[in-house]
Amino acid sequence: MSNGLWGTLPIQGTQFAKDWDALYTFLFWVCAFFFVIIVVPAIFFIVKYRERPGIKPASHIEHNSILEFTWTVIPTILALIIFAWGWEVYKKTTQIPPNAMTVRVVAKSWNWSFQYDDGRIVQTDMYVPENTPVRLLITSEKNDVLHSFFVPNFRIKKDAVPGMFTTTWFESGMSGQHLIFCTEYCGASHSNMMGRVVVLSKDEFEKWKWGKDVQLPPPVGPEFLNWDQQASAEVDLRKDAHAKGLNQLAQQGAQVVQSMGCVSCHSSDGSARIGPSYHKIFGREAVLADGSKVQVDENWIREKIETPHKRTLAGYQVGLMPSYKGLMTDSEIFAVIEYLKSLN
Ligand code: CUA
Repeated sequence: MSNGLWGTLPIQGTQFAKDWDALYTFLFWVCAFFFVIIVVPAIFFIVKYRERPGIKPASHIEHNSILEFTWTVIPTILALIIFAWGWEVYKKTTQIPPNAMTVRVVAKSWNWSFQYDDGRIVQTDMYVPENTPVRLLITSEKNDVLHSFFVPNFRIKKDAVPGMFTTTWFESGMSGQHLIFCTEYCGASHSNMMGRVVVLSKDEFEKWKWGKDVQLPPPVGPEFLNWDQQASAEVDLRKDAHAKGLNQLAQQGAQVVQSMGCVSCHSSDGSARIGPSYHKIFGREAVLADGSKVQVDENWIREKIETPHKRTLAGYQVGLMPSYKGLMTDSEIFAVIEYLKSLN
């Protein structure tokens, strides 16, 4: 797990990471070397030959062919080495092994979903087996904006564009949870648009694939910390709910809103995010954008989950929330409703 440049680069979770880091480290030392041999003598000569009384100005020097030839040829060779090296690594990132498994990645404002060959759709977390090439078929939902899929530990980054598919791939030998970022500024909740690549052992992945419970491997990398805090805040909240003697369904609902990415836009403690907070919202009379009033009840929650564009609460922008129709089962919607009630 040795990282390039004194550990300033993220964990190397793939061979790409090692390849890019080697090139990056080479670039760094080339720059450092030339910085020193150019700037140090430059400063020295500036001081030594500064204009002073009694010093004659230097004679006018036209040019020096040998010197000029040298400082053209050496940088040209260096630039070509950097180009060829970069080209070799880039080629590897674009040549997808034919035996790779495919995971379809759909970005929308503001979460990620992953669809597998068997039709299974998972929100926020992508599960993959270790030491297996994984091809990603990436898009952004219709009528949504540009996003970009970025896994720092894997050194892969690819735009998600509505109406088109982009591809990339990776193979990780490092089991663990690797953070996913959206790295294209996509609006107000861009910085919350995170997810995880969960790399499991092949056996564990088989289990997961067949719907069995698997033990999550630990998070990898320091940049994970922020996400972990967000996640653990929600976990604490569940514990809290449990302490108050609330039922199991509410806790399931808390898990649903976490895993579906709802918490990117809705807080549970009354703090402001893109959408209304869940805190004390259930049963309330709310005002719609057109001034009419509505009771926040079971039907309203369901409408917001499945057809959120239909009606919007006053003070919130229309059309921001994507539909979760077909993504949440009825039992999950029931659990979410129970969870919201628990926050009153
Ligand atoms: Cu999606 Cu930034």
